[in-house]
Amino acid sequence: MPKSNKAPQVFENYSLKEYNTFGIDARAQYFTIISSLESYVALLKTGLYSHLPHLFLGGGSNILCTKHIDALVVKNEIKGFDLIQEDDESVILRSGAGELWDDLVSYAVQHNWSGIENLALIPGTVGAAPMQNIGAYGVEIKDAFDHLEALNLETLAVERFEKSQCQFGYRESYFKHEGKGKYLISTVCFKLNKKPTIQTSYGAIQTVLDSKGITNPTISDISKVVIEIRKSKLPDPKEIGNSGSFFKNPTVPSHVANRLLNAYPGIPNYPISGSSDIKFPAGWFIEQAGWKGFRDGDAGVHVHQALVLVNYGDATGKEILAIAEKIKASVNEKFGISLETEVNIY
Ligand code: EPU
Repeated sequence: MPKSNKAPQVFENYSLKEYNTFGIDARAQYFTIISSLESYVALLKTGLYSHLPHLFLGGGSNILCTKHIDALVVKNEIKGFDLIQEDDESVILRSGAGELWDDLVSYAVQHNWSGIENLALIPGTVGAAPMQNIGAYGVEIKDAFDHLEALNLETLAVERFEKSQCQFGYRESYFKHEGKGKYLISTVCFKLNKKPTIQTSYGAIQTVLDSKGITNPTISDISKVVIEIRKSKLPDPKEIGNSGSFFKNPTVPSHVANRLLNAYPGIPNYPISGSSDIKFPAGWFIEQAGWKGFRDGDAGVHVHQALVLVNYGDATGKEILAIAEKIKASVNEKFGISLETEVNIY
């Protein structure tokens, strides 16, 4: 589709059911799809929607809508991959923010560029990925991130953000905090290696490779194994509405960690390098508190992964949130741990 510089069409009272992976039928006061930065700037310059907050949507894979959205919802479909730098060791690949994250991973794997293969099959778009520094199987997007470009909504200037400016942490970035609502991310650039940097230490990757007799894996093998593991644990949003992990894995100081390790010797745990803090899997607490597979109407907790809340059909955002609140209260009561949501709630 050719890039348009014209302001895009805006729809009123528009259902977001197709645009959030929970499949919640919330309505946006206004809704539009942008395929270029220029078209969004043209829309801003009309001044027609300046009285409203603008909510940017990528794949809608990290959002729970509990009410109608009194905003202009802007679905970012700025597309395109291009190679902006190459030497003997690495490439810098630029991606439009509206590309699907998994399409970017496939593109990199096909070209044998290494760095993001462990992040295969994560739902959502490239532009949403740095917002919460997506991560899986021992890799986070910050590891391969080079820089991004974003439109400053106040000045309408395009600004470049280097890695250090993005303040990446565990499911955290500048764009979730000080930068929230101030920028529209338009492109993200990744530094990928021509020599594979194979990372098999996390979770079941090595076990699955062993079971297949793969001793010298390629990045294509790694991405296939990650896809297999994810499919076995995580529900496909096209079949059962969900937003991946609903809560973050809690990181606690050593005195709390010691209390838990003494009381529950089998509890899985992940020491944080350079700190005495320890991270524990929220899914373990939720399962132990008895919630795995819980269902109330169409809202529930996934049968294979207690960290994932699901919509079996016509659940409302409020019903999903009510289960989340009950889970938080019961994990707090049983373990003295307060869970934080990873998903953005509106
Ligand atoms: N566990 C249970 N019961 C459960 C789920 C997990 O006991 O129902 C325990 C198991 O012992 C398991 C451990 O928790 O070994 C870790 O589980 P898993 O490997 O499934 O990963 P996770 O910690 O639950 C995190 C990310 C996922 C990512 C996986 C793999 C967060 C909040 N979630 O989940 O990311 O795919 O690791 O790296 O950090 C997402 O962010 O949406 C997401 C899916």
